[in-house]
Amino acid sequence: MEGIRIEGLRKRYGSGDTAVDALKGVDMAVAPGEVVGLIGPSGSGKSTLLKCLGAVIEPSAGRMTLGGEAIYDEGWKIRDLRALRRDRIGFVFQAPYLIPFLDVTDNVALLPMLAGRPNAEARKRARELLEALDVGHRARAMPSQLSGGEQQRVAIARALVSRPPVILADEPTAPLDSERALGVIRILDRMAQEYDTAIIVVTHDEKIIPTFRRLYHIRDGRTYEEAGEGRALG
Ligand SMILES: Nc1ncnc2c1ncn2[C@@H]1O[C@H](COP(=O)(O)OP(=O)(O)OP(=O)(O)O)[C@@H](O)[C@H]1O
Ligand SMILES: [Mg+2]
Repeated sequence: MEGIRIEGLRKRYGSGDTAVDALKGVDMAVAPGEVVGLIGPSGSGKSTLLKCLGAVIEPSAGRMTLGGEAIYDEGWKIRDLRALRRDRIGFVFQAPYLIPFLDVTDNVALLPMLAGRPNAEARKRARELLEALDVGHRARAMPSQLSGGEQQRVAIARALVSRPPVILADEPTAPLDSERALGVIRILDRMAQEYDTAIIVVTHDEKIIPTFRRLYHIRDGRTYEEAGEGRALG
């Protein structure tokens, strides 16, 4: 299958007496165009899993494939992990982490510009995405002039601008009220379908959990899959 596939993934932090086995054999699959929820108690390994998949930290064992290509198989299979992160993975965090002295357009266009794309092309693509996310009218504003929900939509545009096949979102709706939280999920769902992106959303948010069609629970370093309610997003 294309998309994301994780098999038998393990992560041990540290060694000896103080070692922590954060992931003890995680299995997960997400198809292109699909948004799945990942839920579990604090300390269960959710962020660890996203960091492994995002090549921010190195797993201890197991296998991960992206778009049918093994990126990790008992060791990294990709030499340039920075390029992997830049070109194939988009991150959305709980806080938007926008750069305060760049306007909204340049916050979104920055990564492709740094990657060597012509500035005009990067800004054009940024503005298209901002339009699609209903913040096009704020394209020239500075981040401090935006509401929390608008800032989070800009952060989503930034994650999508390189059209990565994978988006990893860690508590993307935590600071938002329920209307805006559902709005963020609606947008991720639409973007997944439009760009064939595989999206994993880590959440504690009771408001959005019923919207997932498929959910993974993580408990004590292991994942359990279940069908979600898939409540219509309207
Ligand atoms: N850098 C680290 N060094 C050692 N242990 C760590 C490190 N990062 C996380 N852990 C431990 O690994 C386990 C999983 O942590 P992780 O951050 O993945 O949990 P989480 O599910 O994201 O929790 P939360 O919902 O609180 O964000 C926890 O026991 C945590 O203390
Ligand atoms: Mg976490």
